[in-house]
Amino acid sequence: MKMWFLSSLVIFLSVNVVLNGATGPTHGKVVVCYLGSWAVYRPDRGSFAIEHVDPTLCTHLIYSFAGLNVKEDSMRALDPWQDLTEDYGKGGYQRITALKNKYPHLKVSLAIGGWNEGSSNYSMLAADPKRRSRFVANSLDFIRKYKFDGLDLDWEFPGKRGGTTEDKVNFMLLVKELKAAFRKHNLLLTAAFGAGKDTIDVAYDVEGLSIFLDFIHMMCYDYHGAWDRKTGANAPLRSTDILSVEYTINYMIKLGAPPSKLVLGLPLYGRTFKLQEALPHSPKRKPRLGALAENVGFQGPFTRESGFMGYNEICLELKNKSSNWSKFWDNESRTPFAVSGKNVIAYDDEQSIAEKVQFAMEKGLAGAMVWSIDTDDFLGDCSAGEDFVNFPLMRYIDKAIWQSLRDLENAVLHGRNAGDDGNSGTGVVKSARGVLYIVVSVLVFRFFK
Ligand SMILES: *[C@@H]1O[C@H](CO)[C@@H](O)[C@H](O)[C@H]1NC(C)=O
Ligand SMILES: *[C@@H]1O[C@H](CO)[C@@H](O)[C@H](O)[C@H]1NC(C)=O
Ligand SMILES: *[C@@H]1O[C@H](CO)[C@@H](O)[C@H](O)[C@H]1NC(C)=O
Ligand SMILES: *[C@@H]1O[C@H](CO)[C@@H](O)[C@H](O)[C@H]1NC(C)=O
Repeated sequence: MKMWFLSSLVIFLSVNVVLNGATGPTHGKVVVCYLGSWAVYRPDRGSFAIEHVDPTLCTHLIYSFAGLNVKEDSMRALDPWQDLTEDYGKGGYQRITALKNKYPHLKVSLAIGGWNEGSSNYSMLAADPKRRSRFVANSLDFIRKYKFDGLDLDWEFPGKRGGTTEDKVNFMLLVKELKAAFRKHNLLLTAAFGAGKDTIDVAYDVEGLSIFLDFIHMMCYDYHGAWDRKTGANAPLRSTDILSVEYTINYMIKLGAPPSKLVLGLPLYGRTFKLQEALPHSPKRKPRLGALAENVGFQGPFTRESGFMGYNEICLELKNKSSNWSKFWDNESRTPFAVSGKNVIAYDDEQSIAEKVQFAMEKGLAGAMVWSIDTDDFLGDCSAGEDFVNFPLMRYIDKAIWQSLRDLENAVLHGRNAGDDGNSGTGVVKSARGVLYIVVSVLVFRFFK
């Protein structure tokens, strides 16, 4: 009897895995999760280790960042103790790629670059054909040695911050040569792109790069911050100027990026501001973004970076009754902001994220990316009691993808004659799945009787 139950259970679980691909998202879109490896050093409940990742919420996971060894033209661990196993290291590379054992759907890439690596060392590498070819061979070895599924290029940015005008063509050549080598081993080659028009124009040969990159991760955030000396949305969906998610995505498509390769980046963080003068506080006058601010914002208790606050810090802060936060919705950017005295936080919540996801789905993009999974409310500290939920924003992305795809499907069907069975293909799959579930459930149910 017991054997019988166990075999039904095994069948049930296998049916689940086969039909759903079941260890990760099943909507068919990509969900790319960046992880900043230094998040482990944050204090208290801000500390995020690899083991905090919930791989069911991501299709792709990217360990950030590795650096460039300019002597060898190779990749190097930026934090050997955290990344490697030598000298009693914590073996981050090994631990993150090991997640694939339990979650076979997951693709784990290693990112090279990031803001702190600057641009000029990459510029010099890309300009020299011999150095490029050494880097191609060495980075391939590095990725394979640590069992990553791919490489993510985060050169910030070609043609800027000490780069040259030749970077645009040289970056393309580097990507082309990397792809030729990576293709043979079936490894992913992706890149993170800056979202500003000025960056896109000097840095990327969009049409060419689109041929060789598997996915382009659009960093659709940091449009505004304390550097503007006035308050503004970190990631406006729309705007009257060119600084918005909508403009960036439309511009990339206009330049020849196939939507199926574009991944919309979503910030799981906000930008903070210190106002020059407290906003007049009256229930009748709603404060607006655009107020004069100092050129440096305030810090959060975990990330401790001026002008930046993780969503996990923001949601805790907004819950603190004694600091009197008032929340507002900015209609133009379709994002929320909060005000307390002279402090302002412009951020993203479930609503703004859902609208961005809907926009990405309407545009037919490959999916969504987050910077970064370590600043979602990963411990569920902002949820209360029975409503406990961790990774609320990640879960909302999943929900919004499903919802948007359903809405689009319905809109298409609605445009047809009633009774026209427009999705018979998926219908057959769904009913086959349904029959299997019923059979297995009956078997399991009979055991309990
Ligand atoms: C570029 O490489 C040189 C030589 O290794 C290094 O000293 C420098 O810090 C690098 N630049 C950045 C911004 O990392
Ligand atoms: C709540 O805000 C008050 C006033 O700003 C501050 O003194 C207190 O430490 C905060 N509490 C928490 C738990 O952050
Ligand atoms: C919050 O508001 C109360 C009452 O208006 C006031 O007494 C208190 O000082 C305010 N706290 C902060 C941190 O601004
Ligand atoms: C919000 O913005 C949209 C267009 O961006 C506009 O049509 C609508 O009237 C605005 N709503 C409010 C309440 O301002």
